Amino acid sequence: MKRTKITDLFSPGMIGQEVSVMGWVRTRRGNKHVQFVALNDGSTIRNIQIVLDMARFTDEELKAVTTGSSIHVTGRLVESMGKGQSAEIQADTLKVFGTADPESYPLQKKGHTLEFLREKAHLRPRTNTFGAVLRIRSALAFAIHKFFQERGFFYLNTPLITASDCEGAGAMFQVTTLDLNDLPKGEDGRVDYSADFFGKPTALTVSGQLEGELGATALGAIYTFGPTFRAENSNTPRHLSEFWMIEPEMAFYDITDNMDLAEAFIKYCIGYALEHCADDIEFLAKMYDEDLPARLRGVLESEFVRLTYTEGIDILKASGRKFEFPVEWGVDLQSEHERFLVEEHFGKPVILTDYPKDIKAFYMKLNDDGRTVRAMDVLFPKIGEIIGGSEREESYDKLLGRIEEMNIPMKDMWWYLDTRRFGTVPHSGFGLGFERLVLFVTGMTNIRDVIPFPRTPGNAEF
Ligand code: 4AD
Ligand code: MG
Repeated sequence: MKRTKITDLFSPGMIGQEVSVMGWVRTRRGNKHVQFVALNDGSTIRNIQIVLDMARFTDEELKAVTTGSSIHVTGRLVESMGKGQSAEIQADTLKVFGTADPESYPLQKKGHTLEFLREKAHLRPRTNTFGAVLRIRSALAFAIHKFFQERGFFYLNTPLITASDCEGAGAMFQVTTLDLNDLPKGEDGRVDYSADFFGKPTALTVSGQLEGELGATALGAIYTFGPTFRAENSNTPRHLSEFWMIEPEMAFYDITDNMDLAEAFIKYCIGYALEHCADDIEFLAKMYDEDLPARLRGVLESEFVRLTYTEGIDILKASGRKFEFPVEWGVDLQSEHERFLVEEHFGKPVILTDYPKDIKAFYMKLNDDGRTVRAMDVLFPKIGEIIGGSEREESYDKLLGRIEEMNIPMKDMWWYLDTRRFGTVPHSGFGLGFERLVLFVTGMTNIRDVIPFPRTPGNAEF
C-alpha cells in the first residue's frame, strides 16, 4: 500500500479509506483495552490519532512505541468520536522503524523552552513550534521566487567567495587555504597572499549586490537569494553571522519605483503565508502571540508611511522620549528609534529615505544637497529594519569621488566601475533579510529560532 502523508488524510473523500502512514510518535496514552498514539510526520502541524485495539496487539509490541520512536501503521481512516480531531486510524498493522529510549530522548517531555531547544538544534525540528516555523520558512522562500518570476525578474547566483567588501563594514570572514601555523611572509613581514588559493585575500560575501548590479545592467531586473555572512560581534535577537538575503536589482528604477516594489514584495510574501500556512500561523498565535494574525493582516491593509530621515529625526526629537542613544541629525538610528516611529508614532510600517551620506554605503546616489543619499530602509513593527536599499550612484565621476573619499581600495573595484563606464543607467535595488521576514511572519522573537542551524558569535555546533 502506498504511503499517505498525514496532511493528505484530512482531504475530502479520505474517510473510509485503507491507509498507510509513517511518522514519529508524539504521545501514547490509554489503558489495557485501547491505546491512542498521536503521530506526526512533519507534513502538517496536525497529528493523526492512531487507535490500537489491544485485543489485536500485544503489550510487548506496544512497548517500543514511545515518544520520539518512528512507526509504520496501516488501517482504516474513520471519523473520530474524540474531540480535537476529525479523523483517526483504526490500526490493522504496526511496525516500529526505530526506538527512542525515554531515558535519553531529549524531547521526551512537552513544553521545553525555546532556549533549551536551541541547545538541541539537531532535534528541535521535531517539535510543533519548529515544524511550524520551518514550513512557513519554506513557503516564504517559494513565495519570493514566485513574486519575482511572475514579474520577469531573473534569478542570479552571485559568488559566496569574494575579494570585495560590498557594505564597507569590514566585518568579513576570511577564506584561506594557507596554513595558519606557518604563514608565508613577504619581505615586509606581512602575509604573502600570492601563495593563497586565489592568489589574493578573499572572504565570504556580505552581500551579492555589486554582482547583482552587473546582472541588472544586462538583464534589466534580477534578484539574488542566498546566504550572506557577517563577522560582526552583534549578540542581538535580530542578528545572525550567517543569514539569507534576497537582493533585487533593477535597471531604470528610481527610488520611488524601488519603494513601490519593496512594499508590494513584502505584502505579497505575508499574504502568501496567510493563505498557505494558516494552520501553522494559527498554532504559533495560540502558543506565543495572539496578536500575530491581526498584525500580519494589518501590514497587508496599511499603506507604508514614507518619510525622510530628517523628518524622522524631527519626530524623534519632538517626542520628548528619553532614548538610550540620544538623537541628533547625523546619528545612525538604533532599533529603539526605529521601533518608536513604527510602533508608537505611526502604528504601521515606515520607509525612511535620504539618510546622511556618512552613515551609508559608498554606492548610494548622492542627493543634490550634497549631504544625503537616496537610501531607503523599510522599518517594521517588532523587527526594526527589515529591508535596506537605495537608488545607486550611476555617475562614474561621483561614484569614484565617494570611493576615494571613503578610502575604498580602488583596485578591487575596477569591474564594478565598468558598469558606470559602459552604458550606465539609473538603477536601484534593496536587500531583504530573509530571517527578519520569517521572524515577522512567525511572530517569534529571537532570530536564532527561525533558521534551522543558527550561526552567532561563539556558536556553530550543529
Ligand atoms: O542593510 P543591509 O546591510 O544592506 C545590504 O547588504 C545591501 N547590499 C542591500 C541591497 O541594497 N542590495 O542588509 C539588508 C538587510 C537588512 O535590512 C536586514 O534585514 C538584513 O539584511 N540583515 C541581517 N539579518 C540578520 N542578521 C544580520 N547580521 C543582518 N544584517 C543585515
Ligand atoms: Mg541596513
